[in-house]
Amino acid sequence: MTSLVEQSKKLCAYKAVDVDLDPSKHRVIGIGSGSTIVYVAERVGQLANKSELVCIPTGFQSKELILKNGLTLGSLEEHPEIDIAFDGADEIDSELNCIKGGGACLLQEKLVGDCAKKYVIVADERKNTGVLGRHWRQGVPIEVIPSSYTKILLQLEKLGGKPTVRPGAPAKAGPCITDNGNFIIDCDFGEIPAAKVKELNDKLVSMVGVVETGLFVKMAQKAYIGNNDGSVTALA
Ligand code: 5RP
Repeated sequence: MTSLVEQSKKLCAYKAVDVDLDPSKHRVIGIGSGSTIVYVAERVGQLANKSELVCIPTGFQSKELILKNGLTLGSLEEHPEIDIAFDGADEIDSELNCIKGGGACLLQEKLVGDCAKKYVIVADERKNTGVLGRHWRQGVPIEVIPSSYTKILLQLEKLGGKPTVRPGAPAKAGPCITDNGNFIIDCDFGEIPAAKVKELNDKLVSMVGVVETGLFVKMAQKAYIGNNDGSVTALA
């Protein structure tokens, strides 16, 4: 039997595609990563004119989803202007700032989001907490150049965070390696008030060796939240 959370992921994903994707105008579509985006790809794959669309992935899973749903795979190099992109999130605050990177795809996700004229987040209700750091207790994912990780761990501790290097799978094989060959550090800063998200992100990206962070500062124009009662809340 499908769980309520799974149902709410599907509901918000289908709603986002049905409301925000205009297949007559939107030809280049960004497809994010995670378990909620599975339903976005499924819905886009049901469009009558799907062969006219080009989908830009944010990682390996996303590429597979595009192909599995009979969609055309494109690249950011060929299509640096994306009409609309959909992605999941680990947490969303009241100003649509997000924590992303639970699946370690944050760099490519941020690139696709940055290139998109419209960036739409889909998530189940657990992620909609109003303040980042309430639900996603694992910390802010930070992608770093491998040789810089010990110095960045020290810098993050001095900044008041509790950083850990994300293990790979299996953990004994060493750290998690991203699609770009980098490490991920998850850094717990506790709750991050909406007014402080940009300031924290600026401090993190100024550390030499940091490639990108999972703090997506006001990038999304819209978010669809799937609720357990079967409703969908649109945030903008
Ligand atoms: C991957 C991500 C995902 O979008 C995020 O982890 C949400 O995933 P899910 O829909 O499975 O909760 O940022 O890097």
